[in-house]
Amino acid sequence: MGSVPIVEDGLAELLKQGLGSGALAFSTDNAWGVDSADFIFLCVPTPQGPNGRSNISIIERVATEIGPHLAPDAIVVNKSTVPVGSTHIVERALGREDVQVVSNPEFLREGSAVQDFLHPDRIVIGADDEASAIRLSALYLRLGAPVLVTDPATAETIKYASNAFLATKLSFINAVAALCEVVGADVRQVALGMGYDPRVGSSFLKPGPGWGGSCFPKDVAALIGIAEDAGYDFALLKGVVTVNAGQYERVVAKTLRLAGGEVRGKRVALWGVTFKARTDDIRDSPALEIARRLRELGAVVVAYDPTVHGPLDGLEVVGDPYAACVDVVALVIATEWDEFRWLDFEKVGGLMERRAVVDARNLLDPAAMRRAGFTYEGIGIV
Ligand code: UGA
Repeated sequence: MGSVPIVEDGLAELLKQGLGSGALAFSTDNAWGVDSADFIFLCVPTPQGPNGRSNISIIERVATEIGPHLAPDAIVVNKSTVPVGSTHIVERALGREDVQVVSNPEFLREGSAVQDFLHPDRIVIGADDEASAIRLSALYLRLGAPVLVTDPATAETIKYASNAFLATKLSFINAVAALCEVVGADVRQVALGMGYDPRVGSSFLKPGPGWGGSCFPKDVAALIGIAEDAGYDFALLKGVVTVNAGQYERVVAKTLRLAGGEVRGKRVALWGVTFKARTDDIRDSPALEIARRLRELGAVVVAYDPTVHGPLDGLEVVGDPYAACVDVVALVIATEWDEFRWLDFEKVGGLMERRAVVDARNLLDPAAMRRAGFTYEGIGIV
């Protein structure tokens, strides 16, 4: 009790504080504590179901379980990412006329979730009942963030549209990176030049191995499904997904090229397994997708990640970045862990069979790497 099983900056301290002061307690009994609560936050997973549709069976089950125990006039707040219309499904599952259900999507990023929670850009509240919206917004008052009060369907759409827009921005910059490679431009400068325009904004313009994680792939697929079910063909988002799948393939193609055209029976090093830095989450990680495709080509993939120690299906996982590079024909950098910048690349090169680096996060200095005798390719850099 009291330990945090995931890597999340600041969470362990917060947990300790909450447990110590008695403000926080845990139970595996869903009915526990519910009868005296003014607000009940539902923060359950909504995994990807068939055809990319979001599976809301967990939230329905929880609502059915807590319904009979709720205090009169309690407010059930849904924080889970659910398809448009789910607020009403939760209402039905609760079976309580006197209890209001409010949609209150979260916009936290893994790795900075505590910081994002305490300093939100905005609070979105979707409620049919104005008094409930006011009661909920009072909880967030001291955070000083703008509060948008709207109806539940709009709040639910805001969540999906935000993630889908960010994924679109990433696929766009990855596509621009591909263009830069053929026209001889530098995507890092292009992104810089674009980002000065506040209408574009400078964040989320770093090209990479493709976007992944437990949110973007699931939410983009779900939004495409929601649109389809409602009779709208969200062709733009389908293109965003296609570009992303192509991005994994582009990294694999670079690796194959730099490895001399053949990886069958050869060792390839993979630095970074998580879907991004500052987390230990490997769900839908582009790194794993790239590793899978390299293995399909016959490569033996040797991985290192500061937060991943496990055995991983089909991958050799080693305890330090140098060990991953022994006798490899190429090194792929898939996650932007800061420590990768400061390693001894003379030593790295000395261990490799071929001094070839595919830097899918543009972490290293191309000129310095080439001077050190590496064949080096980043993303969108000539
Ligand atoms: C994302 C959203 O950013 C959060 O606002 C949202 O609350 C969350 O999903 C969610 O729905 O729960 P997260 O999944 O933690 O948060 O990850 P991001 O930081 O958004 O990164 C997503 C992917 O984009 C990662 O694979 C990352 O490496 C990639 N990325 C991000 C880039 O390739 N380049 C960038 O410039 C930024």
